[in-house]
Amino acid sequence: MCGIVAYVGTKSCAPLLVEGLRRLEYRGYDSAGLAVHGGNGIEIIRAVGKLANLDAALAKNPLAGTVGIGHTRWATHGRPSEVNAHPHAAGSVAVVHNGIIENHVELRKELQGRGVVFASDTDTEIVAHLVDEKLRKGAKSLEEAVRQSLTHLRGAFAIAVVWKDAPDEIVVAKQDSPLVVGIGDGETFAASDIPALLAHTRDVLFLQDGEMGVLRKGGFTLTTFDGTPVTRATKRIDWSPTQAEKGGYKHFMLKEIHEQPRAVEDTLRGRIDLERGDVLASEIGITPETAQSLGRVYFVACGTSAHAAMTARYWVEQIARVPAVVEIGSEVRYRDPVFLPNDLVIAVSQSGETLDTLAAVKAAKAQGARVLAVANVLDSAIPRAANGALYTHAGPEIGVASTKCFTTQLTALLLVAVYLGRQRGTLSADGGRRILEALWHAPGLMRTALDEEAALKAVAKKHLRARDMLFLGRGPNFPIALEGALKLKEISYIHAEGYAAGEMKHGPIALIDEEMPVVVLCPKDSHYEKTLSNMQEVRAREGQVIAVGTVGDHELAEYAAKGGVDVISIPAAEPEILPLLTVLPLQLLSYFMADGKGTDVDQPRNLAKTVTVE
Ligand code: F6R
Repeated sequence: MCGIVAYVGTKSCAPLLVEGLRRLEYRGYDSAGLAVHGGNGIEIIRAVGKLANLDAALAKNPLAGTVGIGHTRWATHGRPSEVNAHPHAAGSVAVVHNGIIENHVELRKELQGRGVVFASDTDTEIVAHLVDEKLRKGAKSLEEAVRQSLTHLRGAFAIAVVWKDAPDEIVVAKQDSPLVVGIGDGETFAASDIPALLAHTRDVLFLQDGEMGVLRKGGFTLTTFDGTPVTRATKRIDWSPTQAEKGGYKHFMLKEIHEQPRAVEDTLRGRIDLERGDVLASEIGITPETAQSLGRVYFVACGTSAHAAMTARYWVEQIARVPAVVEIGSEVRYRDPVFLPNDLVIAVSQSGETLDTLAAVKAAKAQGARVLAVANVLDSAIPRAANGALYTHAGPEIGVASTKCFTTQLTALLLVAVYLGRQRGTLSADGGRRILEALWHAPGLMRTALDEEAALKAVAKKHLRARDMLFLGRGPNFPIALEGALKLKEISYIHAEGYAAGEMKHGPIALIDEEMPVVVLCPKDSHYEKTLSNMQEVRAREGQVIAVGTVGDHELAEYAAKGGVDVISIPAAEPEILPLLTVLPLQLLSYFMADGKGTDVDQPRNLAKTVTVE
């Protein structure tokens, strides 16, 4: 999740661009850079780390000019470094980009075949070379060159492009990544998000997918990718800068909950081959021979990431038919564990820096096991220590309680299970296609599940006085119950426990009385009947049930009509996709309970986002 800014006007643009980037800091970044058109040519300055480093570089080498583009990078392709920082240049063109070019490998090869030499490992540099090539081959304007280049790109992108021979304009384009244009008085802006514009203008225009345009001092012209002119009125934004950073949501956590469908799309981007029913993820780095000779998959992770791993254990065993275990990082490191050379250790970590998980990775590697990291932060310690890394591409998560990183971990881990299943021959092409098609449609289903927000707010209000809560689920929904309980205790400080629904009668049932809300995950799956009878056991003891069930489930509705049961619906889905859906109401429930209690939702007491201590 990078940040873009662009400016065409009469003011010296470098300070203005840096200020805009500062307003996008919340999107996370590891490097930043500017390209400024000084009238005679384009100058680029880039720096790794904090924006202060870019400031220092600019102090040494000030950039003069009134047309420029800027970028904060949150690495997805190529490690954080000055060479990989944006803007990327080719010939007399410079480009900034937010998103992921899906077909970057193929395009890079084609360009290399035509003699192009790449300076960076990024997917973005491809765009710069394509535009440069089109200009050299006679495109009449920068706009035309960008338009022609767009026909080659697949994936998500918001781009801004400057060209030496067009000193008064910037061309922008958008597909599946945000881009907003700001209209000022004799100056025009573009940015990934509104906060970067608010100091200068509140009149903005949101680009839609498949649209591009040209920024000039005197205004903005908008067209579709195929050149059809578009007329759109500007909107006036009344948000304060802080409200704008949260996209109008009250908290980052709520914003991130709603970002999940998009985040899952980004995790899947370029990794699914529906035709072959297979996963395209060479970064997993496992040959068919290694996959076939696997003795065990050994997951290590902590907290929410461990719940993702626990869910994935069901998939790995069912789909790839390899025995799988899950251990929490802090236990592995002090248990003198036995790793075997044919173990695949999968370390799951949002931050990629969790000390306990890292220590487990090192122990596994020391004993000769192969380690795959599933992480969100590029080039963090765990992926660096592992043999291969599959990144979740969720973008930076600011709320301390993990939400979008959890669902993208589930997505990445389901891809790993399918990949192993296909390589080991335990999953047919048809079987792979069924799961991958379901995954492909998951973001749409997630959007529908999130529509239950108002119902969850009402349910949360009803239970605000609860002191304890239970969460029950079976099969892959058991770890989701654990995750629901963790979310609730983290942010609302209500004591909560997750249990395998079948385990309830072995102890926790003693806790149930009319004061105890019990969340029961009972979507239509192979465990449905059994879970429903667990729910009845709760009702028989007067427990208050919050049932997460499949839309149109009449049996559940009839049962709820007798009282004491609130039903929250999720859409029907293939069994592998259900955990991606059942967790959403639990996140929203925790959020509304915490908000209702007035806790500090984004920064709950005693918790840190990255745990680099034991
Ligand atoms: C809970 C949460 C934590 C983390 C845990 C591991 O909402 O965020 O439980 O999941 O600290 O962190 P990572 O995934 O960074 O290794």
